[in-house]
This record gives sequence, structure tokens and C-alpha cells, in this order.
Amino acid sequence: MRLISGFGVVAVIFVCVAVLAATSVAPQPSGRAPRDPFAQTYTDYCAACHGSNLTGGRAPTLFDDTWRVGGDDVSLMKSIREGLPGTEMPPFKDVLTEADIKGLIGYLRRQTTLVEKNASRARNPVNQIVRAEQHTFTFEVVAEGLATPWGMAFLPDGRMLVTERPGTLRLIDNGKRLPKVIDGTPAVWTEQDGGLFDVAVHPDYAQSGWIYLSYAEPGENDTSMTSIIRGRIQSGRWVDQETLYRAPAELFFPTNVHYGSRFLFDREGHLFYSIGDRGHDTDAQDLSRPNGKVHRVNDDGTAPRENPFVGREGALESIWSYGHRNPQGLALHPVTGALWAAEHGPIGGDELNRIEPGRNYGWPLVTSGRLGKRAVATAPPRQQEGLEAPIAHWTPTIAPSGIAFYTGDRFPEWKHDLFVSGLAGEALRRLETNGDEVVHEEVLFKDFGRVRDVATGPDGHLYVALNVPGVKLSDTTPGMIVRLVPTDER
Ligand code: HEC
Repeated sequence: MRLISGFGVVAVIFVCVAVLAATSVAPQPSGRAPRDPFAQTYTDYCAACHGSNLTGGRAPTLFDDTWRVGGDDVSLMKSIREGLPGTEMPPFKDVLTEADIKGLIGYLRRQTTLVEKNASRARNPVNQIVRAEQHTFTFEVVAEGLATPWGMAFLPDGRMLVTERPGTLRLIDNGKRLPKVIDGTPAVWTEQDGGLFDVAVHPDYAQSGWIYLSYAEPGENDTSMTSIIRGRIQSGRWVDQETLYRAPAELFFPTNVHYGSRFLFDREGHLFYSIGDRGHDTDAQDLSRPNGKVHRVNDDGTAPRENPFVGREGALESIWSYGHRNPQGLALHPVTGALWAAEHGPIGGDELNRIEPGRNYGWPLVTSGRLGKRAVATAPPRQQEGLEAPIAHWTPTIAPSGIAFYTGDRFPEWKHDLFVSGLAGEALRRLETNGDEVVHEEVLFKDFGRVRDVATGPDGHLYVALNVPGVKLSDTTPGMIVRLVPTDER
């Protein structure tokens, strides 16, 4: 599913403006709702074109209550029964009974209500004032009308690249709020957690022009795997693409989870990237496999000779550390240059780690989370000799995604604090650290949507990627990039 049609873009903007702007806080449905009886009919007959979330598919989403032909019951019955001649929308009168069609319309209405309920939980951050412990700030929109923004990167001239998980790379140019799509990026696998992930700019971009992308690459028979590429942007197109990492075919899995995929360039120009365990937890301990690892490569994808497992038989030379579940946050300490990483735990047990070369971070041998109800009795220990313990962990889960040390000057009290985004708690956290210790934690804000990435901008503001919660955790939903601005400056 790709967000390409003008309709898709308009629909997303509409939902973003109309729904994210809603300020009422609807009660959250508690527990697991029983499966809707018409969900299966929808999956069988409609999802192939209309998609299964707010992004839609080849055809527009039917869940956002925006209609072109007509949204009243009579018009919907007619569109579905007769189809829409001259378009791809087929007639269903020979396939579905009138009762089926009525049931489907009811299902569409229920999905819309769910989407609105979830969306209205996410308050619009714009013009909200937050009085945090040390600074008072507000939010400015940098880009809106985005579909699940995943990663951000700044070009030397201050323009910004942003990835949207359904598979688009956009360039935020001259402060335009709906940024331009870069054409020609590869097709991505978009089931569940799949999609286009992080973007990074080569440290010597002015010379080389390289942009790095990580994504879930579709394989044979509905499989996928994290792949790493680089390319250049010329006249709004993605060109000169080179593959830096693509797993062998047998490591493309049918699971749609734990792709990892965060990027970081260190001061020597090495590229770090993470790959989650892909749902194969014991692979995280297997040095011949790429999943469940943090990797370090040269800018062309080759492994530096000093990498810890170079020369070890059977080990992948790019591996920097192992025993990871799903690391989606990487940051370089601005003073010590040390690598820090955040990863999603099983049920709780989210971790913040100081990454040292060659070390084993323990997954799935140790965890402070639970492995699910079934496994409580046999849950692995929290710590074990020879396995690195996290420097901070969170239970219940905060679902940490991007992390960043603040290096700007706009918020002097926050200098060199670590900011941790959170998908599950929809919060941004600020961590004060001392050496390898976290000495204080503050929830800076909550309930403005799922927080997926955070970065210090070249202007010294703190940039944050948000998207409204969907019906399911992995749904693609409207999102925006905002920046935190101190209010005493305005
Ligand atoms: C083969 C692809 C395909 C399938 C399968 C399909 N649709 Fe559609 N449908 C479309 C396209 C394309 C459009 C938009 C047509 C246009 O206006 O250009 C559409 C439009 C519609 C509309 C009109 C939307 C509006 O804005 O007024 C409704 C309602 C609709 N589809 C319902 C369904 C339902 C319900 C199913 C499953 C029973 C379904 N469709 C299956 C392709 C499909």
C-alpha cells in the first residue's frame, strides 16, 4: 500500500485537521473488543483494494468518513451493489447478499467511530503550553498531513527529510507544511510493522550527496526483511541507488514484526544500524544471523576491520553488539561519544543500554519483561553473568522508538539530556544522566499521539514525530512533525 493518489493525501490531511484537532478526550475502550462479524467479509472482499487502515490501498480508505460518491446508506448500498462504472470498483450484487452489504456498511461506520475515538484521545499539540520542570514550551507545526512519520534527518542547508512508514520519503522545503514526495524510492513491505523506516544524511553530504534509507523489503511468498540502501536526490527523484545490506533469501521471514532499523553516523563516519530479532528470538544470540543485532559499517556498507567479530568463524563482520530484541533508538553521547540504544521489551522490559563493541545484551536469555501469560512460570532471569544489564528499563512498556541527546541552546537546562520517544504511553521522556547512570526522569508531555522519533534540529529546537493512535497498534494514521519552542522566546 502506498500513499500516492491525490485522494489519499487529501484524506490524510482531512483526518489530520479534522480529527487530530478534536480536543475532547473520549473514554478509551477497555479490554479487547470481540471481533466484528463483518471484519472478515471486509477482509475477504474489500481490503485488497481499500486497505485495512486509514492509508487505504489502491483505492481510498473507507474508514475516515470522507466520501466522493456519497456516504448516506442509500448511496453506499448503490456503490457497493452496482459498483462504480468506469473505475476499478466492481459490482458486488452477484457476490454479496443485501444483508451482507448492509452488514458491511455497519462495519465501515463502526471502524470510523473507532478511528475517531482513538484520534480524539490525541490532543492537537499546536499552541498548547507545557510547563515542564525546567522549561515552559509550546509546539510549532513543521510538517503535517503525514502518514505515520517514522524517521527524520536534516540536510546541511536546514531542509529536512522525513520518512512515512507506508513508503514515502518527503523533503520539507521552505517551511512548506505538506512536503514534497521524492519519487523513485523502492517498494516496501507494509504489513503490520513493515514499511519505510529511517533516513540518514551522510556526514560529508556536501561532497557525496548520499542519503541512507532502511526499509522492510518484500521477498518471495509474502516474506520481508530489513534492507539498507543509499542513494541521491536529484531534481526531486531518488537516483544512484546502491544496496548496502540485503539478507540472503532464507532470512526473509513471514513475520511482520521487529525490523529494528534506526540509523546513526558516529564521529568517524561509521554507520550504525539496528535489526530487530524479526520474531525469531534465539537468532539474537546467533552471530551468523543479522537479526537481533546492532551493526557497524563503513559508509559504503563494508565492515571496518576493527569490528569485534571480524575473523571469528561464521560470524557476520558487520555485527557490533548482539542479544537485542527490537532496538529502534540509537544516540551518540555528545560528550563521551558513547553509543546508547533503546529497545522494545517483550511485555514490559523495554531497555536503555550503553552499547560496547562485542557485548551480549542478553535477549532472550535475560529480560526484565514478561514473555506472556504462558511463560510466566519459566520466565528467564533478569540478569546473568556475562550478559549486559540495561542502564534503565521500563515496565509497563513505554515502547521506546527514536532517542536523542539534546545538543541545542534553546533549552539550556536540557543540554545533553537524553530524550526518549514512546509509542505506547504516547509520551516524550527527558532523562538526566550522569556517566552511565540515569539520575532523573521526567515525562515532558503525553497524549499528543504516538511519539516515534526525536531529534535536535540545526536551529537548536527539539523536533518530534507524532501520529494519532489507530484502531490497531500497527495502523498507519495521520501524523505531523512538530518542534518544541520555548515560550519565553515568543
Ligand atoms: C478491485 C478493487 C476494489 C475492490 C475489491 C473494492 N473496491 Fe470499492 N472502490 C474501488 C475504487 C478504485 C474506488 C474509487 C472509485 C473512484 O471514485 O475513482 C472504490 C470506491 C468505493 C466506494 C465509494 C467511496 C466514495 O467515496 O463514495 C465504496 C462505498 C466502496 N468502494 C466500497 C467497497 C466495498 C464495501 C468493497 C468490498 C465489498 C469494495 N469497495 C471493494 C476499488 C475496489
